[in-house]
Amino acid sequence: MRKTKLIIKTKSKKYPIIIGPNVIGDINNILKFSKTYFEKALIIYDTKVPKKKLFILKKKINSNKTIVHSFKASEKNKNFKSINSILNKLFKFNFNRNDCIISLGGGITGDVSGFAASIYKRGIKFINIPTTLLAQVDSSIGGKTGVNNKYGKNLIGSFMQPDLVVSDINNLKSLPKREIICGYGEILKHSIINGYGTFNYLKKNFHKIIKLKSPFIEKAILDSCKIKKKIVEKDEKEKDLRKILNLGHSFAHAYEASLSYSKKLNHGEAVILGIKSATKFSFQNNIINKKDYNQIINHINNLNINTDLNNYFRKKDINILIKYMKSDKKNNSTKINLILIKSVGKILIKMKFNELKIRKFFARELIY
Ligand code: GLY
Repeated sequence: MRKTKLIIKTKSKKYPIIIGPNVIGDINNILKFSKTYFEKALIIYDTKVPKKKLFILKKKINSNKTIVHSFKASEKNKNFKSINSILNKLFKFNFNRNDCIISLGGGITGDVSGFAASIYKRGIKFINIPTTLLAQVDSSIGGKTGVNNKYGKNLIGSFMQPDLVVSDINNLKSLPKREIICGYGEILKHSIINGYGTFNYLKKNFHKIIKLKSPFIEKAILDSCKIKKKIVEKDEKEKDLRKILNLGHSFAHAYEASLSYSKKLNHGEAVILGIKSATKFSFQNNIINKKDYNQIINHINNLNINTDLNNYFRKKDINILIKYMKSDKKNNSTKINLILIKSVGKILIKMKFNELKIRKFFARELIY
């Protein structure tokens, strides 16, 4: 695959996403061509990323005013404490609006770094270098930033588009298989949103995609980015259309929060479980046709991760699941909004249900 450039044009900002092998090694040229200038840079570095990548990035940026801030990325550390320690570093080194935060890590690092960039002195420059599949196909695109708190996931945050995204697909080679499946969850979500063409491509080639075989992984990444680009360009601030990107997420966020963000279920896995729940819920409520239902469920069952809710929850957990589903950002005070599937390529965003209906769904799914 050669280097590919996608331009995201939203109302608030136009910025490039550069995707390709070894693009971190080419960062100097990318900064030049994208006219991304800054004086000082704070690299927020996820300690899970191989150190070599950090050294290359630092060397190629070629600035003696580059400071590194190590961040142990986890849902538990995606909080105000981490934001404060980043802000303190920015103050300590006297960063101003011509300076820049660079995130080098997965989705959590990107969300935390982007949020810090959006509030420090009302906003400084932000470059996102996503190193996981999930971050490359989803969270680095579209400007959502934020942190978790005890009430739920991503409930505090902002929309701030980055100035530049650099997705180095060579990074994927160092990821554990579990991380690749997580990213695949968002690729699958985008394909169900987009239609049969993309979905059937995944069904046919998913073994090769998750083994990172060329050209299948590259096509899956590019298609996913293009689908997300189309949506966020039309609705940057999630007033309407962008809600379709939350397919499976109301369930997923409740699953993660109810398990206190334990390593037992990470975000991408929760999204796959969430898509499965949304598909089943759609079927039980006569929304999706049997053929599409079977195709989605069979595909998820083939993914070789445990997507049976009984592996994670018991009937006694229904109250807490409902509590977190109610605190989802999309809800008003009385009903729970779910993003559901009519068919592959046709997603419904306005469906609202009372909690009893959702309680019944969980009661049916959970055996014990
Ligand atoms: N991950 C959903 C969105 O960016 O809107």
